[in-house]
This record gives sequence, structure tokens and C-alpha cells, in this order.
Amino acid sequence: MIYESTSPLVKHLVNRLRDAHTDAFLFRHLLREIARQLLGEAAEALPTVEKKVPTWQGNFVGPFVDESRVVCVSILRAALPMQEGVMEVLGECEGGFLAMKRDEETHESRLYYDRVPDLKGKTVLVVDPMVATGGSLHDALELLQERGPERLITLNAIGAREGVEKTAVAFPDVDIHIAQIDPVLNKDAYIVPGLGDAGDRAYNTPE
Ligand code: PRP
Ligand code: URA
Repeated sequence: MIYESTSPLVKHLVNRLRDAHTDAFLFRHLLREIARQLLGEAAEALPTVEKKVPTWQGNFVGPFVDESRVVCVSILRAALPMQEGVMEVLGECEGGFLAMKRDEETHESRLYYDRVPDLKGKTVLVVDPMVATGGSLHDALELLQERGPERLITLNAIGAREGVEKTAVAFPDVDIHIAQIDPVLNKDAYIVPGLGDAGDRAYNTPE
């Protein structure tokens, strides 16, 4: 299921990302904030637990997110600031890393690092700012789904319509929370209008 944000604040943050004058420092800051906002939009699906905490008025029992059942997985490298944003809110959840690089000729992603904790029974938040062809997200979801999570949720900043829809068809049980969907891909499989190469913009490595 695709959930495209309708929040004016999220649109504002994404459009600041698009601005070619936005430098790497601000770019990473905006990605962290977008991830926090999208986490809020996806929060209904997070596992909760009743907990008792001591307060100045004695004990209080109330609902908390069950962070012990949440894992946030980033698809390196452009997703790193998003993972930071999520884990600043859910400080006790576990973090996992998949490193993928898209081949610039074939546009297929190649996995070169996989460090993901046990996912059995967990709610997994998969973060990646860009969904272009959808190939990287598809490969990541396929790999993660095989490891028995209870639920998979993605948080993404910008997607091309065709890549996002292809992902939703291939993974009907996955909640795709995306800030904005753009209309097309260009001949090099870059999102248009998009923002260019997210990894390069976040880490000062222009092609
Ligand atoms: C970018 C982006 C996604 C992928 C999207 O990563 O962060 O992972 O491209 O493209 P797709 O939907 O066509 O697969 P990239 O491979 O450029 O690596 P980087 O983050 O290290 O720059
Ligand atoms: N990866 C990016 O960072 N941007 C795109 O537009 C496509 C893939």
C-alpha cells in the first residue's frame, strides 16, 4: 500500500532538498527531519506496549512504542541520515545496514554489505530517500522478507511513479510511506524533477 504524504511541512522539507543551493550539511539535516516526519505518519503501525513508569505523582501506566520489536534498516549510503532521524526518536530500536550500489549502465543494484539483526517477529522500518526504478528497494525488501519480520514499512523521500507502483505490486503487504511521488525517470533512470544523486549530495561526492 502506498501512502504519499499530504503534509505541507513534509512538502516544504522535500522541496528544500530539491534546491540545488542546498549544501551537504543541510541536505543531511533535511533527510533526518523528513524521516522523523514520515515515522510520525507511519506510527499507527508500530507495535505498542503498556508500561509502568515512576512520575512525580507516583506510578503511571501508559502506552509506549515497543522499541524492542522495531528494527530500522538503512540502504547505504544516502539513507544514513534518515536512519539517524528514526533512531533519534526510537533510541532503543535496533539498526541494520544493507549497502547497495546501483550500476550506472544497467541500473541494477548490487548488494555489497549485509549487517541486519534477527528480524523474526519484528516491525522493520526500511529507509532510503530515493525510489527510482525501484530495483534497490525491491532487492532489499525481498531479502528482508525472507527473514521472517512481522511487518515491513518503508520510509522514502522521493519516488518515481513507476518504481513506487512496481514495488507496491510486488509487495502488497508492505506499507510504503513516501514524501512525494514524481512523474518520470530520465534515460539514465534518474527521477525527474527529483533532486539528482542523493548519495553524492549528502556526502559531497559530485560525479
Ligand atoms: C540511490 C538511492 C537508492 C537507489 C535508487 O543509491 O539511495 O538506493 O539509488 O535507485 P533504484 O530505485 O533505481 O534502485 P545509489 O545506488 O546511487 O547509492 P548511494 O546511496 O551510495 O549513492
Ligand atoms: N538515485 C538517486 O540518488 N537519484 C535518482 O534520481 C535515482 C537514483
